[in-house]
Amino acid sequence: MKLQGSVALVTGANRGLGAAFVRTLLAAGAAKVYAAARDPSTITAQSGVVPVRLDVTSPDQIKAFARGLGDVSLLVNNAGIGGSGPVLAPTAIELLHQQFETNTVGPLRMAQAFAPILAAHNGSAVINVISALSWATLPSVTGSYSASKAAAWALSNAMRQELKGQSTEVLSLHVAFMDTDMARGVPGAKTSPDDVARMTIDALEAGQSELLADDVTRNVHAGLTAVPPMYLGMLG
Ligand SMILES: NC(=O)c1ccc[n+]([C@@H]2O[C@H](COP(=O)([O-])OP(=O)(O)OC[C@H]3O[C@@H](n4cnc5c(N)ncnc54)[C@H](OP(=O)(O)O)[C@@H]3O)[C@@H](O)[C@H]2O)c1
Repeated sequence: MKLQGSVALVTGANRGLGAAFVRTLLAAGAAKVYAAARDPSTITAQSGVVPVRLDVTSPDQIKAFARGLGDVSLLVNNAGIGGSGPVLAPTAIELLHQQFETNTVGPLRMAQAFAPILAAHNGSAVINVISALSWATLPSVTGSYSASKAAAWALSNAMRQELKGQSTEVLSLHVAFMDTDMARGVPGAKTSPDDVARMTIDALEAGQSELLADDVTRNVHAGLTAVPPMYLGMLG
């Protein structure tokens, strides 16, 4: 998909990778970017940006929202939450529900609502922000987050198959730790969200279906077929 003149919608656009997507899309030639956030007053004002209110866990808001935004040709499912702890802890089920509602069901609801809108454009796409942790987990830390992102990965692949008939492309972004609020407490090197957004938009314009954005992600992916495979416990 070519970005020049496109109209994009980015969820979770007020900070972190979402804000980087907004900047990058405008620089790549998008005519308009709907910057969606739970609190639109937190969106940085700039030319070409239209702040809109959206909580991706609200089916009613999503439906109403889609009715009003018929010009969208690129949906960026970026909004997400972290959260950590052992999956056998008593609080894990509640956290799992929250992570699935935001990281997994939210992007699917958005894709369902916007598929007919994307179909009307000659050149349209969905970017799903997933994670290197869809393929591995940090023991006692990211079990439920990883589960939500593994399911988001599976759904992204299903969306790609189902949207092919209407020529809407689907790009899955897998990335390891980025320098955003979500990974603030994580020590070590982190990728710049602006670099990740730039690479993702380049990958979209190149027609890729999947982007593994850094060496850690590429190693985790390669670890799926290592002996023993990385998900059996080598991480952490
Ligand atoms: N940071 C990393 O290391 C990393 C690595 C791999 C993948 N990711 C993924 O990258 C994406 C962006 O994360 P980030 O690093 O930019 O994290 P972040 O700085 O914590 O930003 C998260 C964004 O998601 C929004 N959000 C959360 N729940 C929402 C909801 N129910 N409805 C609408 N918006 C909601 C937040 O809005 P509020 O300001 O209202 O909370 C915020 O804008 C997420 O999908 C995350 O899982 C992050």
